[in-house]
Amino acid sequence: MTGNNIQLDEHGRLKHFLTIEGLDRSLLLNILDNAESFSGVGDRAIKKVPILRGKTVANLFFEPSTRTRTTFELAAKRLSADILNLNISSSATKKGESLLDTLRTLEAMHCDMFVVRHANSGAAHFIAKHVAPHISVINGGDGRHAHPTQAMLDMFTIRRHKQDFRELRVAIIGDILHSRVARSEIHALSTLGVSEIRVIGPRTLIPRHVETLGVHVYHNMSEGLKEVDVIMMLRLQQERMRSALLPSASEYFQLYGLTEEKLALAKTDAIVMHPGPINRGIEIDSKVADSSQSVILQQVSHGIAVRMAVMALTMGHSDARAGDGDAD
Ligand code: CP
Repeated sequence: MTGNNIQLDEHGRLKHFLTIEGLDRSLLLNILDNAESFSGVGDRAIKKVPILRGKTVANLFFEPSTRTRTTFELAAKRLSADILNLNISSSATKKGESLLDTLRTLEAMHCDMFVVRHANSGAAHFIAKHVAPHISVINGGDGRHAHPTQAMLDMFTIRRHKQDFRELRVAIIGDILHSRVARSEIHALSTLGVSEIRVIGPRTLIPRHVETLGVHVYHNMSEGLKEVDVIMMLRLQQERMRSALLPSASEYFQLYGLTEEKLALAKTDAIVMHPGPINRGIEIDSKVADSSQSVILQQVSHGIAVRMAVMALTMGHSDARAGDGDAD
């Protein structure tokens, strides 16, 4: 380990991918550069490279997911790994098996990597601390804490459209309080040197002291959207709200939903992002979600290449460019 960063090995290379916090700019750029190389694999006749041939990846999703789980599965297959999708709802977890006993069971099957989504913040760190030394752990989203591969696929999407991060003004809008995506985005944007990060939302959905992360807080869309290059909408995380934090969905949409009128306040070439799943008519109007400025489906596609890069790098391929060789 380097310092107290459990994610890095003794040479400073990525061993686990748990959070963006504490990783440096060159490491984030290396992930993006590797992902750029892997993005071409999906266009080949045989969509595979042999980089993780013989390795076994276990997808452990203790919370629902469409995008993250399936793109990790596709990424593993495109790297020629074998993949197990543990169906938690019909697994021995439901008979009272502890998380650690589930991990030991999968270790006994000679797994090499765990991709974990869990409702508890810190679950991926806990697992990384307890697995056998040869196993890598990738966080697919833990509670309100972090969703690092989502942040990296969003950085990849931004770079495809805007090139230089240092020139950009980015607004993150909505339920910042419950959002692991927002936290990881703020760390990634800040490490990559964007000129200004804004968070916009009602007072009840903005964490206290969020300014200490280097962001500017707005409660009014008309002010916050002015002259921004990138708009990141967030889903209202009703399942994590312990009390009524909003008057009603329609009032929320009126104040913070992204409509064509509000989008017109941003730069004319601003891009609109959303990690999904989207709630049309609550945080975003359908006309905006389906507009030419929306890159929401590109984010999904980029998730495959970025997850390939992260999986390859954590498995010790420190410069894991795709190369020309197809898997046999
Ligand atoms: N963005 C995201 O994490 O989506 P899923 O919940 O579908 O994985």
